[in-house]
Amino acid sequence: MGSERLSSIKSEYDGFYRDLLGQGRLPLKDTKVGFWGAAITDEAFAALRKAGLTKSSRFLDLGSGDGKVTLLAALLCKEAHGVEYDPELFNKSVEVAQKLGVGNVKFFNYDFFDHSLEGYDVVFIHPDKPMSRGVEQKLKDELNGKLVVYGHHFHPTSFKRKMKFNSGETLVSVYAVKQMKAR
Ligand SMILES: C[S@@+](CC[C@H](N)C(=O)[O-])C[C@H]1O[C@@H](n2cnc3c(N)ncnc32)[C@H](O)[C@@H]1O
Repeated sequence: MGSERLSSIKSEYDGFYRDLLGQGRLPLKDTKVGFWGAAITDEAFAALRKAGLTKSSRFLDLGSGDGKVTLLAALLCKEAHGVEYDPELFNKSVEVAQKLGVGNVKFFNYDFFDHSLEGYDVVFIHPDKPMSRGVEQKLKDELNGKLVVYGHHFHPTSFKRKMKFNSGETLVSVYAVKQMKAR
């Protein structure tokens, strides 16, 4: 069942990228608040597994783009959410989730700074800008769980890195982000 779902997700998104190329567009986009580039399907799925996503986890992709990583996470966890500013990418996410009948995902179409991180066990980010521009502070204030950073370029400076590995050619880092509870 899992591998069929994985193949369906792959084939939906391969089709999407082919359609974009057919229209003379690359699967890349300025989204006004950032820049969309999609994670590689097999790398992202392997990374989520290795990072310790489990059937009891609540997952969030912060800046979920076309929704692919959120749908992959939904194969492994209890509930997967994605938040994305760009309406075209958000619509694609909802379209694929509905087409494939994935029940444990939810997508939100707004600025992720307006989305609370409380209650998520794993937050994934494939960052398009330095974390010092507000994301690191938000994580520090609101997350009590794991942060999975996909990519080489942008990393937090104040969290403890628990694990790093290459998934394909992409560096994946897992940080522990613990809120200091008031005594
Ligand atoms: C590099 S893409 C990653 C997409 C997806 N997570 C993946 O790995 O395939 C970064 C995404 O974050 C989104 N993003 C950046 N800043 C955002 C913000 N403040 N609110 C909502 N989305 C944001 C961008 O629009 C873009 O789609």
